[in-house]
Amino acid sequence: MNVRTLFVGLAAATFSALAPAQAPVVIKFSHVVAADTPKGKASEFFARKAAELTKGRAKVEVYANSALYKDKEEMEALQLGAVHMLAPSLSKFGPLGVKEFEVFDFPYIFDDYTDLHKVTQGPIGAALLARLEPKGIKGLAFWDNGFKSMSANTPIRTPADLKGKKMRIQSSKVLEEQFRSLGALPQVMAFSEVYQALQTGVVDGTDNPHSNLFTQKMHEVQKHMTITDHNYLGYAVIVNKKFWEGLPPELRAQLEMAMKEATVYANKIAKEENDAALEGVRKSGKTAIYVPTREEKMAFKKAMLPVHTRMADRVGKDLLQSIYKETGFDPAKL
Ligand code: LMR
Repeated sequence: MNVRTLFVGLAAATFSALAPAQAPVVIKFSHVVAADTPKGKASEFFARKAAELTKGRAKVEVYANSALYKDKEEMEALQLGAVHMLAPSLSKFGPLGVKEFEVFDFPYIFDDYTDLHKVTQGPIGAALLARLEPKGIKGLAFWDNGFKSMSANTPIRTPADLKGKKMRIQSSKVLEEQFRSLGALPQVMAFSEVYQALQTGVVDGTDNPHSNLFTQKMHEVQKHMTITDHNYLGYAVIVNKKFWEGLPPELRAQLEMAMKEATVYANKIAKEENDAALEGVRKSGKTAIYVPTREEKMAFKKAMLPVHTRMADRVGKDLLQSIYKETGFDPAKL
């Protein structure tokens, strides 16, 4: 090697050492629940995995607790590209024009997580995610939360106990019909506003998996809670399609791998987190927890079952039948 080559080589090495490292691709991930929930923990897990697998080329910034956007705004922000990634509850896709997702709100359609995964982890789930594409959104995964309990300041033992009660719901027509079938008065409200609405009596009660109820401290302003398990609540992890497809293919593949691992993690911790939250509510001594008898649960099922017929056209009869087939749910056999 002559002196000149050595000099040029050294200069190049020095230059590259001094040159600023390429700035990472920033992915803003916004959600509305507390960090200490199944979704909160899974989004942080994804951020860590993404950094690891992309060797720092992607940086996922997680904004919890509606810090960036509330329910309705976050969908609009995603479509505009102001935020890149969300994991809204499956009950919040109706206003976007994707009504089929409300099939997850059909009362008692899933007995347990095993039933549910036959849908979310199979071809029906994949076909549902594909319906988001014309809206400029790509669906990456389904993440679990859990089954809902109802809460209020008065005991809930029979469907009649909900008559005339103002109940906060998510923006789903199926949920609206469900509470109407109980004689309640459903009120759509952003998640971030629920605690205050319960505290001030704007609404009488609500429903959510235990992890949401506990981490938002709803149990401090609700005297009674009944483990009705009437609906499942879970999430679709979604991204702005243009942004996602514009990423370098290798980076995108690494992020997809991170999402795969985050999904396994999310679905592993969901039940544990909800069980721990229920224990937290119990220990607080602020809310009386009622476990309905078999007969009492059956009364709730019977009262809500007509929702399946009334809302079949909203989600599509074929989709509903395909889920019945997958899970073995038979309305005639209740
Ligand atoms: C709710 O609004 O009750 C839930 O969708 C919140 C969430 O994201 O779990």
